[in-house]
Amino acid sequence: MSEQRQPVGVIGVGWVGLVTAACFAELGHPVIARDILPEKVESLSRGELTIHEPELGDLLRRNAERITFTTDMEELLAGARLLFVCVDTPPTYSGDADLSRVRSVVADLSPDGGHVLVMKSTVPAGTGESIRRDLPGLPYVSCPEFLKEGSAVKDFMHPDRVVIGTDAGDEAGAAAVAALYEPLGGEILPTDVASAEMIKLASNAFLATKISFINEIANVCEEVGADVGEVSRGMGLDERIGSSFLRAGIGYGGSCFPKDVSALKMLAGNTGYHFQLLTAVIEVNELQKRRVVGKLEKHLGSLLGKRVALLGLAFKPDTDDMREASSLVLAARLQGEGAEVVAYDPVASERAGEMLGSVEMADSALEALDGVDAAVLVTEWGEFAELDWAEAAARMARPLLVDGRNFLDPVKLRALGFEYEGIGKSSVDAPTPAASD
Ligand code: UGA
Repeated sequence: MSEQRQPVGVIGVGWVGLVTAACFAELGHPVIARDILPEKVESLSRGELTIHEPELGDLLRRNAERITFTTDMEELLAGARLLFVCVDTPPTYSGDADLSRVRSVVADLSPDGGHVLVMKSTVPAGTGESIRRDLPGLPYVSCPEFLKEGSAVKDFMHPDRVVIGTDAGDEAGAAAVAALYEPLGGEILPTDVASAEMIKLASNAFLATKISFINEIANVCEEVGADVGEVSRGMGLDERIGSSFLRAGIGYGGSCFPKDVSALKMLAGNTGYHFQLLTAVIEVNELQKRRVVGKLEKHLGSLLGKRVALLGLAFKPDTDDMREASSLVLAARLQGEGAEVVAYDPVASERAGEMLGSVEMADSALEALDGVDAAVLVTEWGEFAELDWAEAAARMARPLLVDGRNFLDPVKLRALGFEYEGIGKSSVDAPTPAASD
């Protein structure tokens, strides 16, 4: 059997693990995927997807025969040589990354098992070195993942780059990992373990910085009568800046940016270095979620007793992930001001319902808008672009819309009688050149 057809081992089938398992299977490799949660393993073994992620269900169905889901670590260790560790590293109370799940995986491994540990979980720089110290002789490769939820399969299959970090002595393991990724065609970047770990954290921190930067620019645009959409477009045409991740809105969320920015700030702090820029990135993001309240008050005065609809709850479209979603802070702030909150999300309502107990969940966007004094577009789901906004205006007690993602066409909405507030745009009803395109 060739090196590439040996079963690939995946430990932890959360977002990254499940996508990794499905994509390697799609590339023709047998995969053994292990998770500690029996109910998750049972659902996946029955072909039932545990998360909402485009293309993933099809991929898992198509490759069902190649993937074995198990709770049994022994089964995984007996069958696979390359072990992709994909367990989560959530934030601790201190803001550092919680490595307890990584540590418990490592505790099951031994240096003489013939395995290669491939770290996909996002870990602080220095983790690889400490694992190598604890388990000398176990080859260690850092291979951080850069996929985005909502386009995870596409991102995995068409990587911009594949970072493969290894230290002296583990070159054979790194070559085996590189061989797995070769067919995908992305640039393979061999480097050392600590640099690979930093590439992952620095990439997420930089993207988060871009978002907080454009959100601050948006806030200034509102003061000076400029349109942040135009500003982003003009900035993005400069190749040195680039146009992606310059969409202003109500802040970034998700399981990665908030956690990883904080983890990098803490990692620096633990070495005695004060990473001032990231402190600002985090603070801007927190305040950005709350600015919506002021925009509503500008039109409605006190929010006491006002009914407000949230359109979209997930931290971004095409996912049901609610981790660190801006909607969580926004709902709490609105309720704190005495507003009654009703919400609708195409796929995240169930997960969100568990977290937002006092928020009324509607079955459709139009139902959520019935009789409300205002609506906030929180997540830019495609179906909101297709909504019958004339009908929406008729149903609302007051057709006031805060578009937290600058997703809808202000000219069209104003023509339908809406009072429209975007982010980083003048709230005057004059059409901007971009909007009239
Ligand atoms: C992010 C990174 O983009 C991935 O490269 C990385 O692999 C992943 O974290 C991770 O570390 O696992 P993800 O959190 O899934 O991916 O989603 P993004 O598309 O990056 O969006 C993050 C947040 O930023 C969302 O709340 C989104 O609405 C917001 N965002 C994004 C903006 O507010 N403006 C933008 O221009 C772009």
